[in-house]
Amino acid sequence: MFELVVAPTFLGIDLGTSGLRALLLREDGDVIGAAESHYEASHPQLGWSEQDPKHWVQALETCVQNLSERYSAFRQITGIGVAGHMHGATLLDSNDQVIRPCILWNDTRSHAEAAELDRIPAFREKSGNIVFPGFTAPKLVWVKRHEPEKFARVAKVLLPAAYLNWYLTGEFVADMSDSAGTSWLDVRARAWSPELLSASHMRIDQMPRLVEGSARAGTLRPELAREWGLGPDVALAGGAGDNAAAACGTGILTQGQGFVSLGTSGVVLAARDRYAPDPVSAVHTFCHAVPERWYQMGVMLSATDGINWLSRITGKRPADLSAALGEVLQAPSREGFLPYLSGERTPHNDADIRGAFTGLGIDTEIADLTRSVMEGVAFGLRDSADALKDTGAKLDHMLAIGGGSQSSYWVKLLATVLNKPLNLPAAGEFGAALGAARLGFCAAAGADPESVMTPPKIGQTIKPDAALVEAFDEAYGKFRARYPNIKAIQ
Ligand code: XUL
Repeated sequence: MFELVVAPTFLGIDLGTSGLRALLLREDGDVIGAAESHYEASHPQLGWSEQDPKHWVQALETCVQNLSERYSAFRQITGIGVAGHMHGATLLDSNDQVIRPCILWNDTRSHAEAAELDRIPAFREKSGNIVFPGFTAPKLVWVKRHEPEKFARVAKVLLPAAYLNWYLTGEFVADMSDSAGTSWLDVRARAWSPELLSASHMRIDQMPRLVEGSARAGTLRPELAREWGLGPDVALAGGAGDNAAAACGTGILTQGQGFVSLGTSGVVLAARDRYAPDPVSAVHTFCHAVPERWYQMGVMLSATDGINWLSRITGKRPADLSAALGEVLQAPSREGFLPYLSGERTPHNDADIRGAFTGLGIDTEIADLTRSVMEGVAFGLRDSADALKDTGAKLDHMLAIGGGSQSSYWVKLLATVLNKPLNLPAAGEFGAALGAARLGFCAAAGADPESVMTPPKIGQTIKPDAALVEAFDEAYGKFRARYPNIKAIQ
């Protein structure tokens, strides 16, 4: 008699700002397939950004149906991990009903409340970070102040990934990496801080239980398991915030490894073996999604958003704007661009600052604007990379990821501005959805994160253009000098 041994598979879910991506992973590390479903954020007022959690669930169900129809391996899922856009406040009442739309990471309405909390020394001491307007705690202070009847009904505050954890298991449970972005976590101790909670009028019973991202957090609800055609014991991992999940997807766990991500927001991330916060620099210091590790990152709020904006006002597709520059890196443009279209986190912590062009002339063409937007974003990322270096983070091996890394001009420019070779992963999966699936693998199989979170194959290494490093260094100096001047006149 032969017993048919069926290899387990793992589902990774990346709940992104513009859509949800679900990915099916095999035990040998190969990706079987992925599906996506999109939704939007609403902006009821300038600087506001909200989403209805029911759209996340609809997108998840759409992706699950798609994957289960396309792949028979879907039925072998034994582990699931969820990654989510960070900092969002999903408020549930005592009947588990959503009280109001989730207030997202890029919503700056609570900048006054953030500044108030940030003045209480315990926040920087315990959370290791500035209380940024995008973080969760100031959002709750805003709700208390402006929607007191809703605040009074809050029984649980869940980050977007934790909301899906609850939908999947029926349990209120969140991981350390995402929870580190609330301003309520003691990031060194990896535990809720009663002091920070009470300083923002919150209680510990309103928080989900905490687990490590790679640990088992719960079991898929029997109704869902039946509906999806899965077995009775599907493990759910703690999951992760999207940047920690992307670090798991790219194998960035140890000191010396990092990535620069040209996405909607721009991120320079470095893995850390120890907790070494430096809030003054506006660098973010968060728990990693695996035990006893942390990571640090500088975050700029508009990276590819700058090119998307230029695309909208010129009527040209981002890829065409980039293609018009050719492949060969040019000397710094005369036109300068400050990339602060939605305010800035690292290094300025300034929700009000907005972008600016300088040096425009009657000879300025669209291609000059494209170059200067790309340069402005590269300089903004250099701000983050320099701030990271000052914390002792090492950026010896850097990957370039995110939608903007498809522009070879932009990556060459970035390598030159950072004066660092950048590795481009070969085609394939290496993002947050893969990281989430890997966390599901660890939770279900008890696998060691180090052996699961491997780096992607490198397709190409983009070296700095040695002949232009000095010129871009000088141009970066001018960029640095512009912020206070523009600030003074805005
Ligand atoms: C990180 C941050 C964003 C979001 C959305 O602090 O706000 O990167 O996680 O991706």
